[in-house]
Amino acid sequence: MAILGMNRRNALIARLNPREAIKGVNQKFETKQRLAAAGVPVPPTLALIGDEAKSAAFDYASLPDAFAIKPNRGRRGEGVILVDGRVKGGWRKLSGEVLTEKALRAHVTRILAGELSLEGGNSDAALIEPLIRAHPDFARMVPFGLPDIRIICLGDVPLMAMTRLPTQESGGRANLHQGAVGAAIDFRSGTIFRAVLGQDEVFEHPSTNVALIGAGLPFWRETVAAARRCSGALGLGYVGVDLVIDATRGVQVLECNAYPGLEIQNVNGAGLGSRIALVERLQRERARAARRAGTEAAHSRTAGMRPVKDPRAALRDAGRRIADRVTGAFLLPVSLAA
Ligand SMILES: Nc1ncnc2c1ncn2[C@@H]1O[C@H](COP(=O)(O)OP(=O)(O)O)[C@@H](O)[C@H]1O
Ligand SMILES: [Mg+2]
Repeated sequence: MAILGMNRRNALIARLNPREAIKGVNQKFETKQRLAAAGVPVPPTLALIGDEAKSAAFDYASLPDAFAIKPNRGRRGEGVILVDGRVKGGWRKLSGEVLTEKALRAHVTRILAGELSLEGGNSDAALIEPLIRAHPDFARMVPFGLPDIRIICLGDVPLMAMTRLPTQESGGRANLHQGAVGAAIDFRSGTIFRAVLGQDEVFEHPSTNVALIGAGLPFWRETVAAARRCSGALGLGYVGVDLVIDATRGVQVLECNAYPGLEIQNVNGAGLGSRIALVERLQRERARAARRAGTEAAHSRTAGMRPVKDPRAALRDAGRRIADRVTGAFLLPVSLAA
């Protein structure tokens, strides 16, 4: 099933993801702007605080009851604070602790100093967003926390998908290494067909006992459609798109990863290597078809005749043929995992 290993993944990324695009995707606010411009739904921004003067002038008390604050160039959840209610003198964190306005200002100062950001650096900006709440279809599966969805795309072709479901043990975090469940999603039906906790296959969520196999994801078509647009919007040929389904706003792309991890293969019980090879072969075929169509059109023109074949139509046909084949490969129930 051609598992994609670290070396081949890195070679693929070196070939398909330009350095500038990789840098760009590490900036959450700028990434959101690019995605939004391409019609991809992203969480709204309540504030972007770029320096101490802005922080001093910012009216923190005007923030809503529930929000998330994070470093613009953060990673792995570092420096993310989530609050879900107001208490005297501040807010209540999801963890139950109190966040005073003074502590919030101090946190922003740490973010601005770059202490919580990727690549060290000595400055960053603080990004504040409304708190995303899990859609009920997801919320019913997990004890608490925000499940997410990871879709790996090669260009605009979705290759593999999983959802990460927080557990009691993961402390609500949707992180496989922290003990969240990884569940593979069938592209055509948007249902879970396999679930993994660590190295073990599971059939129910360990904290809630909710049956996972066959469980349907809400807004699946919209989820896939949003993921497919990210590559083009960000200039990344290979991208891991992280999405969440907000209870009120629906599908939102939370972040995009230029170096997506390889565990998704373990979750799916399938390899990315063969899918990548197939899609790249189909893309080469499409390019050849386009060249042929162009040559035919040129020939008929030089012969003083109307083109027998419209090159654009030929391209469209080729694209459709390829889409059918990719669909056949990846969108069938249980796809290649069986
Ligand atoms: N607006 C938000 N509402 C609720 N939870 C959020 C929000 N933004 C981030 N989170 C939580 O914090 C985690 C880390 O945030 P993310 O934007 O993915 O940054 P990082 O680069 O640190 O992974 C997310 O996986 C999610 O669980
Ligand atoms: Mg993240």
